[in-house]
Amino acid sequence: MSERTDHRAPGGLEIRPVTGLGEFGPSSDVAGEILAAAPWLADGDILVVTSKIISKAEGRMVTAPTDPDERDALRRRLVEAESVRVLARKNRTLITENRLGLVQAAAGIDGSNVRTDELALLPENPDASAARLRREIAERAGLDVAVIITDTMGRAWRTGQVDVAIGSAGIAVSHPYDGGVDDYGNPLVVTDIAVADELAAAADLVKGKLDGVPVAVVRGFAPVDDGTTAADLIRPAEEDLFRLGTEEAIAQGRREAVRTRRSVRSFDDRPVDPGLLREALGEALTAPAPHHTHPVRFVWVRSADRRRELLDAMNADWRADLTADGKSEESIAKRLRRGQILYDAPELVIPFLVPEGAHTYPDDRRNAAEHTMFTVAAGGAVASLLIALSVREIGSCWIGSTIFAAPTVRRVLGLDDAWEPLGAVAIGHPREPAPLRPAAPTEEWVIEL
Ligand SMILES: Cc1cc2nc3c(=O)[nH]c(=O)nc-3n(C[C@H](O)[C@H](O)[C@H](O)COP(=O)(O)O)c2cc1C
Repeated sequence: MSERTDHRAPGGLEIRPVTGLGEFGPSSDVAGEILAAAPWLADGDILVVTSKIISKAEGRMVTAPTDPDERDALRRRLVEAESVRVLARKNRTLITENRLGLVQAAAGIDGSNVRTDELALLPENPDASAARLRREIAERAGLDVAVIITDTMGRAWRTGQVDVAIGSAGIAVSHPYDGGVDDYGNPLVVTDIAVADELAAAADLVKGKLDGVPVAVVRGFAPVDDGTTAADLIRPAEEDLFRLGTEEAIAQGRREAVRTRRSVRSFDDRPVDPGLLREALGEALTAPAPHHTHPVRFVWVRSADRRRELLDAMNADWRADLTADGKSEESIAKRLRRGQILYDAPELVIPFLVPEGAHTYPDDRRNAAEHTMFTVAAGGAVASLLIALSVREIGSCWIGSTIFAAPTVRRVLGLDDAWEPLGAVAIGHPREPAPLRPAAPTEEWVIEL
């Protein structure tokens, strides 16, 4: 392996259980009891201590009802109180982050190896507890030992649990191999061995959960105190690729979907994946519509020539309108420039209202209402398209201009007279990534009656 093998134990390890320890309680002298039970403790040993006895000695036991349902309810309240965040929930398993940043099931609150009328909270600060125990052993016995306080945790991706270090003192908790080279010459770029966790797990092999051996001693490792503690093994949230459970991440993504959309008017050169655009169109076409109709069609103008022909013809219409309005050439040019986005966008989709299946009434009032109903339904599909695009990190802007040039649009695109253009959607990858937008204020715009 690399030249840095100083934290390894090439000569082998001895892992000895500390037997004969009694029951621990709030008045227990943990250092004294360990020294009495392990008079053979020596310099350089690593004392691996189950957090449960530290919890007991530090008064972190909570009286609990023996009725299983009531005990469970208390356990849930304690998990909530001990946690700063719930990361994942599946069936009865709750993965939370506690005040110290430890991520584990049920905030480490445990009902095993404690009396049936008690629940154990984790030590308040396991690193501080480890430092205290190390100091007390040095003061009383003149021994330089490292201390690791352990708890049992599950692992993402793997079944089963292992013991890990939740507190430590006097030992480098990890062994980075950065810059090292293995025997085959491969650079060890990111290997960072969580030594304290490995020692915790190894010691558990002699401690065991059921036979009352809460302490073990690892000998032969020669710990190096580099000032790191178990807290250094907690992965910072911002580096955590799996901070949320899968279901929670999906749920959050769904909740935020609508707020990913905003009008994007500046695109970069990256082409839009046609498969993604087609997916988004397919989703948009699931929008609600009156009496089982499909009142919207999307015309995806893929031909550059056709697009230019269409936009040039629309501009000619627009220019004629503005000239008739008496606008100056400068003012006309300024307005036409606003339509440039439809020339420049990587993709262009034109939504159409298609009144297929619309009911016909004997009076104008109801015919107009039917038309409005189809129009709003088609508008809903367009809004859905914009969201279906934005959740795929594709930007869009809905531009109204085709509505004002309907006959020209139908002529250039060769469409039926009944098809009504509902604007145009300019589509592309945003030049600037935009943060999630806040929801709109509801006080003024939501009228609750
Ligand atoms: C039917 C319709 C027509 C629109 N026409 C234009 C347009 O011609 N030019 C433009 O820049 N934006 C246009 N927009 C986009 C609005 O300006 C935009 O939605 C509004 O400024 C709010 O910004 P947001 O979409 O980022 O929330 C249009 C939007 C709709 C719904």
